Amino acid sequence: MMKVPLIKPDLPAFHEIEGPFREVLESGKITNFGQFVTQFEADAGAFLGTQVATVSSGTLGLILTLQALGLERGQKVILPSFTFMATAQAVLYAGGVPVFADIGEDMTLSPTDLETLLNRHEDVAVVLPVHMYGLPCQVGKISQVVNEAAQRLGRSIAILYDAAHAFGAELGGQRVGSFGAAEVFSLSVTKLLVSVEGGLVSSRDPDLIRVIRRMRNYGIEQNYDAQWPGLNGKMSELHAIIGLQNLRKVRENLAVRTEKAAHYTRYIEDSTCFRTIPVPPESTHTFKDFTVLVPPSMRKKRDAIIRFLSNMGVETRAYFDPPVHRQSYFMRFATRTLPTTEDYARRVITLPFFTSISEAEMSRVVAALAEAERTFTQSLTA
Ligand SMILES: Cc1ncc(COP(=O)(O)O)c(C=O)c1O
Repeated sequence: MMKVPLIKPDLPAFHEIEGPFREVLESGKITNFGQFVTQFEADAGAFLGTQVATVSSGTLGLILTLQALGLERGQKVILPSFTFMATAQAVLYAGGVPVFADIGEDMTLSPTDLETLLNRHEDVAVVLPVHMYGLPCQVGKISQVVNEAAQRLGRSIAILYDAAHAFGAELGGQRVGSFGAAEVFSLSVTKLLVSVEGGLVSSRDPDLIRVIRRMRNYGIEQNYDAQWPGLNGKMSELHAIIGLQNLRKVRENLAVRTEKAAHYTRYIEDSTCFRTIPVPPESTHTFKDFTVLVPPSMRKKRDAIIRFLSNMGVETRAYFDPPVHRQSYFMRFATRTLPTTEDYARRVITLPFFTSISEAEMSRVVAALAEAERTFTQSLTA
């Protein structure tokens, strides 16, 4: 039986990194902001049109950026509950209090619910939307709602985008990375740009990036004098070499993914009852994850469908179920129901998708979905 994995990471061939690996190992300059980290920051910044600081993970990038934006202990941060828990963990580690918002039909932060929350909570310091699966949020509406609240309150409210899934995404011809006060990318293995582990903080504000560079290096300004809060958030040269090599292929990989995702979408929509999430014409989606929704009538069968697909050799996940406000550690912050989040979390199935996915693998997944539909529609009517 043909098995289709959830992902296959985009990694360089050994010969592509052999030379630089040998160079850093022989010179002993394997960390502490050597030539490859410096080059990676310059090239990623040129790609995004921003200033960039490398960090050891997306989670650490979020923690440091929340603090660099001035978040103080006990201040509120609005974020969607429909996300990976790292978004909310970062808020807590940075000293903030998470306030969970609902999502819209595009599975990103609902500007309407954001407005409701900003009217209800006067002490919000940061809004932290997530470009879900690599689909850009409704950036224009979010900034309008936040600006109106900031004007009403007579102070600023920062917008920090969790862009963990979204390196390469675009909105209205502008690359994700340049929106809000800052955006944070993850470079872990499931992402379009991989450095094995790692993250990037991206901003148009050079002063903010300068502070992040201090904070990721124990808060040291110079001469071992810590002038900032800080942790060890350094990226090694070895990780930067892999990131740099992958960055060279990002445009090409994105074009391949866009074409394959469009084909997969048509195929699924034409042959099954599972629904894909529409991509607005002004958006470029990275498809870090390719998620479909089971029809509302089959919601209770979602977990059985996942097992069925697994038995047919198709590996899937339910990204992101349970949503964060339903997770044990975060339930104490769940003060209200989030209807769209709760509905979609029960209906998501994340399908195999990666840059090198073949036509045969996509056909196999669609055939398995069609088979699942036949089996579970029969069991519903039986
Ligand atoms: C939405 C979201 N935010 C943050 C992170 C954390 O990134 P990292 O694993 O690089 O710490 C992830 C990880 O995949 C994520 O999915």
